[in-house]
Amino acid sequence: MDDAVRKIGVQGMEGVGKTTIMKHINNQLLDETCNFSDVIWVTVSETFEIKNLQRQIAKKLNLNLSDYEDELCSASEIHKILSQMKRYVLILDNLSKAFRLDEVGIPEPTRDNGCKLVLTTRLLEVCTRMNCSTVEIHGRGSTGSVYE
Ligand SMILES: Nc1ncnc2c1ncn2[C@@H]1O[C@H](COP(=O)(O)OP(=O)(O)OP(=O)(O)O)[C@@H](O)[C@H]1O
Ligand SMILES: [Mg+2]
Repeated sequence: MDDAVRKIGVQGMEGVGKTTIMKHINNQLLDETCNFSDVIWVTVSETFEIKNLQRQIAKKLNLNLSDYEDELCSASEIHKILSQMKRYVLILDNLSKAFRLDEVGIPEPTRDNGCKLVLTTRLLEVCTRMNCSTVEIHGRGSTGSVYE
C-alpha cells in the first residue's frame, strides 16, 4: 500500500466482491507482520449508528464499554486505546453512511502513527465524504454477476 495513502474506500455495487477482496487483503496483511502490528476487521451493521460502531470496535479491542456510557465517553475510551496502538489497519466492511472519525474515537490515520483505514461501501458518496482515496470495483461481466 502506498505510504502516502492513509484512507482507502473500496466502492462497488452489491455482490461485486468487495468483502471477498478485503478478506484476501486482511489475510495478506496478517502475514506481513513487519508493516503492520494489527489488523482490526469490523463488519459494520446494515443500519449505521455511531453507538453500534463504537461497540463493534470496542469488542475487537477487548474494551468493555458500559451500557450507560454515552457516545462521547465511548469515543474517548476508544481513542485512548487506538492511539496507543500504532501501525494498525482498521477495516470497516460495508459502511452505509459517512461519519466523523473523532465522533467514534478513531484517530486520524497519519504517516506518524503508521495507521491505515480501509472501508468498503456501495456508495461513492461515503468514500468522498470520508476523504478516502477511492478504488472502484466493477462487476465481473454478465457471466459472473451475482444477483440475490
Ligand atoms: N472474483 C470472484 N470470482 C467469483 N466469485 C466471486 C468473486 N468475488 C466475489 N465472489 C462471490 O460473489 C459473492 C458476493 O461477494 P461479496 O460478498 O464479496 O460482495 P460485496 O461486494 O461485499 O457485496 P455487498 O455490497 O453486498 O457487501 C460471494 O458469494 C463471493 O463468493
Ligand atoms: Mg460485502
